[in-house]
Amino acid sequence: MSQTPPFDDSLRTGFADIDEQHRYFLDMLGELVQRIEAGQHRQGVLDAFQGMRAYAEGHFADEEALLARLGYPDMEAHQRLHATFTDMVRELEGRMGEGPGLLSLETLEFLGAWFIGHIRNEDQRFAAYARRG
Ligand SMILES: [Fe+2]
Ligand SMILES: [Fe+2]
Repeated sequence: MSQTPPFDDSLRTGFADIDEQHRYFLDMLGELVQRIEAGQHRQGVLDAFQGMRAYAEGHFADEEALLARLGYPDMEAHQRLHATFTDMVRELEGRMGEGPGLLSLETLEFLGAWFIGHIRNEDQRFAAYARRG
């Protein structure tokens, strides 16, 4: 069985709402993997993918609002990383809408690895900045 990485305590930023959103997003990815493995019909997979994409965009908007409140100096670079991810998932969603090819598990694993890496390497940097006050 394929696995997307679960949320764990090493990913916590100290912002409860942000941590909850990270956890929920990873749960959504795991749910998508399960739908694909269960052979769910394409509309069900597409709906779940769209939900995941919309959730990611909402999360990025909330997180960017937090960065603005914190006066985080690397905010622009951080926003560009969010935009890179958003562009990637929008492109995938567009392709799913056109062709018969379903989303691959490898693609979901890649998205999960990207998201976890982003939390570890980038979100943790603004968390450290906030802790320094
Ligand atoms: Fe982020
Ligand atoms: Fe984040």
